Amino acid sequence: MKYIIANWKIKLAPVEEIRLAKKIIELAVDQGKVKVSINPSFLSLWSIAQILENTPFYVGAQNCFWVDNGAYTGEISPEHLKSVGCHYVLIGHSERRSNLGESSTMINKKIRCAIDNGLVPILCVGENDDERRSGSKDHIIRREIEMALQNVNIVGTQKLLIAYEPIWAIGTGQPATVQESVYMHKVIRQTLVDLLPDETAKNNAFILYGGSVDSANVSDFLRAESVDGVLVGTASVDYKQFAKILEIANNI
Ligand code: PGA
Repeated sequence: MKYIIANWKIKLAPVEEIRLAKKIIELAVDQGKVKVSINPSFLSLWSIAQILENTPFYVGAQNCFWVDNGAYTGEISPEHLKSVGCHYVLIGHSERRSNLGESSTMINKKIRCAIDNGLVPILCVGENDDERRSGSKDHIIRREIEMALQNVNIVGTQKLLIAYEPIWAIGTGQPATVQESVYMHKVIRQTLVDLLPDETAKNNAFILYGGSVDSANVSDFLRAESVDGVLVGTASVDYKQFAKILEIANNI
């Protein structure tokens, strides 16, 4: 099973997001092979959840808070996300870490609250260009995962997705090579084996690649055995690119 997660960021206005979602639901999804989540902006998430209802497409959020309800002005409750049909939630995207100062402690609390509500967290991790050049990326990624997963219990059929997204590859048109991503996926898998019970690390955790994935390179990533899917930003708001990505995923 390969995951295709579309991170629409705030690249489109809500009316454009709704128009795109209505076109996307006409696309074929081989549900035996692919799981697809559309993660729109919050303004259109509920409408899009309704559009995707009874289709093979899931809806995801781009962020959430770590408390379900109360006096938290401007925050988004994981419980409320679940109640409107949301399935996945991105947590710790590098754009939030850098623009909003999201810390490892915050990310850890978000993951725990998302799991408590039965949402599937997609934890985003990745090194910046300096960290890459200094050779510290394995350590950085391992540390990000260790901190994010402190006291996180994954039981039953609960899933955890980890997206390896090198910061230098996001939105740059310069993806990591497949070899680089496969290498890092092995580091991540080993980290999970060290942190989680064996069966959980093996059966409940999936590792995706993100950063300049498009219709021209997606098949290389999806064909790599250790890559369980892709997180797509820019190319996911381009209907033609996204349709092609899905077609390729259906045929892997
Ligand atoms: P990109 O974004 O595909 O535009 O590089 C990926 C992401 O930020 O999740």
